[in-house]
Amino acid sequence: MKNSRIAGVGHYVPEKVVTNDDLAKLMDTSDEWIRERTGIRERRYYNPEKDTTANMGVKAARMALDDAGLQPSDIDFIVFATLSPDYFFPGPGVTVQEELGIDTIGALDVRNQCSGFIYALSVGDNFIKTGMYNNVLVIGSEIHSSGLDFSNEGRSVSVIFGDGAGAVVLSPSENNEKGILSTHLHSEGKFAKELCVVAPSSSGHERLTEEMMKPGGLIYPIMNGNYVFKHAVQRFPEVIGEALKHNGYSPQDVDVLIPHQANLRITKFVQDTMKLPEEKVISNIQKYGNTTAASIPIALSEAKQEGKIKENDLVCLAAFGSGFTWASALIRW
Ligand code: UT7
Repeated sequence: MKNSRIAGVGHYVPEKVVTNDDLAKLMDTSDEWIRERTGIRERRYYNPEKDTTANMGVKAARMALDDAGLQPSDIDFIVFATLSPDYFFPGPGVTVQEELGIDTIGALDVRNQCSGFIYALSVGDNFIKTGMYNNVLVIGSEIHSSGLDFSNEGRSVSVIFGDGAGAVVLSPSENNEKGILSTHLHSEGKFAKELCVVAPSSSGHERLTEEMMKPGGLIYPIMNGNYVFKHAVQRFPEVIGEALKHNGYSPQDVDVLIPHQANLRITKFVQDTMKLPEEKVISNIQKYGNTTAASIPIALSEAKQEGKIKENDLVCLAAFGSGFTWASALIRW
């Protein structure tokens, strides 16, 4: 069995910058509150005339393919993680196959919200390990801004999220000392209702009603923020520790930690718990907010562009979110 390695990374964020002051014009919030509670200064919102979750993913994918020195025709399989697909069904993976003009390869859609990218990476990694595929495209992309409640009722959720996309190309590693060393995936469905969007739903009530679309309605994300926060600060260090122990490493061996960009306070907590210096921990939530399945590949792509990831570095990815689901990946770059 061959390890897979990240052969190329890419990202795309929409041009429109929305500052905290812009949001304060829509709801009872302030730049000070948002910065203090989350670290976010601004986020990007999509352009309805040109951006979709799938085509933002395609843009990130093209950059990742260039970075890997590969053509779309070299890709054997697509894994697409999102909670905000273009259609209720089919998922956006098939649109990527079409837009990249690739032959009729398989396209799988992953629905694990903030942990979606690591789940998707794990799927791609294991297809390569078993020898079934050679090059796998893994994408995380989200458009949150069209589904947020900008009334006061939704303010604790809507100030957090932003739009964007990231992608990686996975290819076989030359040796098993390098590449994705392990992935660890977890879920605890009893907490599904602590962070969710209920409608449109296929069970229990009509799929979509006018009532559901009113401020505070079921089409908007519901989040028990404090509760999610408390679980996140426990699960992040736990799942990172699991990855390190599995591979015989300690926190001091980590060169770069890329956590899902949920909240800067959560990231700082994890950093302190693991006693990591700030320069080893990647944070870009200040610019993009929480982009769910896209946050890790966007941060990875930027970190690589900025020279923060070097050959042989031990890179750890970790995520926690709706489900609850949480996950980690340990990579020897
Ligand atoms: O991405 C995956 C999972 N998501 C997360 O990991 C998010 C985890 N949770 C969080 O990041 C935080 O809980 C939030 C940022 C969502 C909220 O921060 P918090 O420190 O937990 O605030 P809170 O919900 O306890 O609210 C504190 C106060 C409340 O007012 P009172 O009751 O103290 O008078 C809220 O009504 O802040 C108020 N508030 C706001 N004020 C201004 C809530 N949202 C806002 C807002 N602007 N946007």
